[in-house]
Amino acid sequence: MKQLKETAAFLKERTGMEPGVGIILGSGLGGLVEEINISHRIAYEDIPGFPVSTVEGHDGRLIFGELGGKEVVAMQGRFHYYEGYPMEKVTLPVRVMRLLGVHTLFVSNAAGGLNPAFEAGDLMIIRDHINMFPENPLRGPNIDELGTRFPEMSETYCKKLIGQAKRIAADNNIRFQSGVYIGSPGPTLETPAEYRMFHKLGADATGMSTVPEIITARHAGMRCFGISVITNLSEQSEMDKPTTHEEVQSVAGTAAPRMTLVFKKLIESL
Ligand code: HPA
Repeated sequence: MKQLKETAAFLKERTGMEPGVGIILGSGLGGLVEEINISHRIAYEDIPGFPVSTVEGHDGRLIFGELGGKEVVAMQGRFHYYEGYPMEKVTLPVRVMRLLGVHTLFVSNAAGGLNPAFEAGDLMIIRDHINMFPENPLRGPNIDELGTRFPEMSETYCKKLIGQAKRIAADNNIRFQSGVYIGSPGPTLETPAEYRMFHKLGADATGMSTVPEIITARHAGMRCFGISVITNLSEQSEMDKPTTHEEVQSVAGTAAPRMTLVFKKLIESL
């Protein structure tokens, strides 16, 4: 808690801002930043207590500014469990956001589509998730100042925001899906058998992030909304057509403007 408070105090002092909206941008989805009226850009390496992002395509900056008429703080690049960070570090930025005053968290990610109705480039509004990480980020002594020992998870993704997002997408002729995201550690993509298993477990899309951040956000009482950009399909693996990181980035890039529009209008409507 001491480190969290120090990091939050540093950012408050540096920016003079106490944003109510937090945004986490996934692989290839950093383009949303161009829509932000930016007042501060701070590299992770310059933030005390922050880990430093290592993956290509993840920029590693905290952006403060205004989007849709609201003060926002956005992570351009996130910390993944597969990079080797302990869960405490993966989720540290979310807790720092909470201490800054963030009440609503928007997350995005690139994900593999498991639902046969999905197409590459689709947006999937996350309705719920399944945690397949080998641990829960809340394991260990509870930080009572942030939230309760046994957080309730019946409405992890805010139904009201989901409804609003669907209306916004429909009004703007944006094709969208909604479904369950299953988060697993990576860094391997799934074998064909694993993709089939995840679909049988009830998931529509799979990726290597989001779940730890959302659990931590819900623990701290934040309202959550998420979009997965479907960058590849599990059926590719059945046809021995490998998915590459470049493909994931490039498909995410083509879908990013649609995701950005939904986020922006949703934030406007808050
Ligand atoms: N699996 C896991 N993570 C991913 C995938 C996938 O197929 N595509 C993009 N991120």
